[in-house]
Amino acid sequence: MKKIGYAVLGLGIGMAHCEGAALSEHADLVAVCDLDRERLAKAHALYPETTLYEDFEELLRDDRVDIISICLPSAMHADFAVRAMRAGKHVLVEKPIDITPERAALIEAARLETGMTCGIVHQNRFNFNMTAIKQAVEEGKLGRILLGTFAVKWYREQKYYDRGGWRGTWEMDGGGSLMNQAVHTVDLMQWLMGEVESVTSTMNIYNHNIKTEDMTASLITFKNGATATFVSTTCAYPGISTEIDLYGTEGSIEADADLLKTWKMKDDEDEEEEEEMLAKYGRGNRYAAEQNPGVLYGHRHVVEDIILAVRDGRDPEVMPADAIRAVRIVDAVYRSARAGGEKILLG
Ligand SMILES: NC(=O)c1ccc[n+]([C@@H]2O[C@H](COP(=O)([O-])OP(=O)(O)OC[C@H]3O[C@@H](n4cnc5c(N)ncnc54)[C@H](O)[C@@H]3O)[C@@H](O)[C@H]2O)c1
Repeated sequence: MKKIGYAVLGLGIGMAHCEGAALSEHADLVAVCDLDRERLAKAHALYPETTLYEDFEELLRDDRVDIISICLPSAMHADFAVRAMRAGKHVLVEKPIDITPERAALIEAARLETGMTCGIVHQNRFNFNMTAIKQAVEEGKLGRILLGTFAVKWYREQKYYDRGGWRGTWEMDGGGSLMNQAVHTVDLMQWLMGEVESVTSTMNIYNHNIKTEDMTASLITFKNGATATFVSTTCAYPGISTEIDLYGTEGSIEADADLLKTWKMKDDEDEEEEEEMLAKYGRGNRYAAEQNPGVLYGHRHVVEDIILAVRDGRDPEVMPADAIRAVRIVDAVYRSARAGGEKILLG
């Protein structure tokens, strides 16, 4: 079977997409594109067979290219993803899908109009612990989920924001700690807890010279009656944790990023299940991957998923409609915070 031709646009995190495509048995990394010649040279050193482009239009004219990973600054995603799909290319778009629900909707409209395959990078859904947590939620192990507490306590130095000129700006980053770093956890929150009904939020710029925010705090209600708190920051030196905690009528689960921390179920009195789950999922992706050879996580997983989706004519695991939900929540948080904590209904 002919291998899928893969290209990557934007060579920051795009290098992880290059690695995923280059390591895939089903694809060839045929081209990369960036305006930055140093980054092109670095890609060339690693992948000497790959064609280098500075001009996106030229990349679009390359007939060997079936899929393009869109890894540009966040506010450029819709523009370039739409152009790619209209030129007959399938796309994998980095998170956030774009920086407003309206721009994100342009991607979904182009997907429907062109019939091309379009996936979005929310790779944390495929952390090993997350698959177990999602299954527990879906099987009703926790009973009715009453409360979630989510806290993304990360750290970024000022020089992180100074690099590239787009981070920490409303125009290109669309926000700060929430839109850029914590959008993954916003995605997990709505994926695990259901549709959000309202948000009441505050935000601030505490410790960086940026235009957006480096701290948000929100009270979130869900249509199913549950409640959550959500905190995001890039001020928690030196980067502490990503807390994902769920409390239901029948049990509690707590995780820190890809580590399962707590598995307490009312029906597990002898704690046998807890012991087993912590042994299996309590040591992170790397350990779990060693135990399950061939199972991928992170960017390897999402790149392989879009390759197989295109090859097999199926949908990718995370579609634009899934990713738009996270951006709608982030947008509501910012609107609430700007309005002094007014409760915003998501409708
Ligand atoms: N999924 C994740 O875990 C993850 C991690 C990091 C970044 N991201 C997302 O990936 C995107 C890119 O982030 P980054 O950190 O790699 O940014 P970056 O600034 O390091 O890289 C962006 C690249 O795009 C290139 N570029 C800009 N305009 C271009 C154009 N018109 N044509 C060709 N190249 C162009 C720049 O030269 C730069 O090399 C952002 O949306 C970010 O939120 C996701």
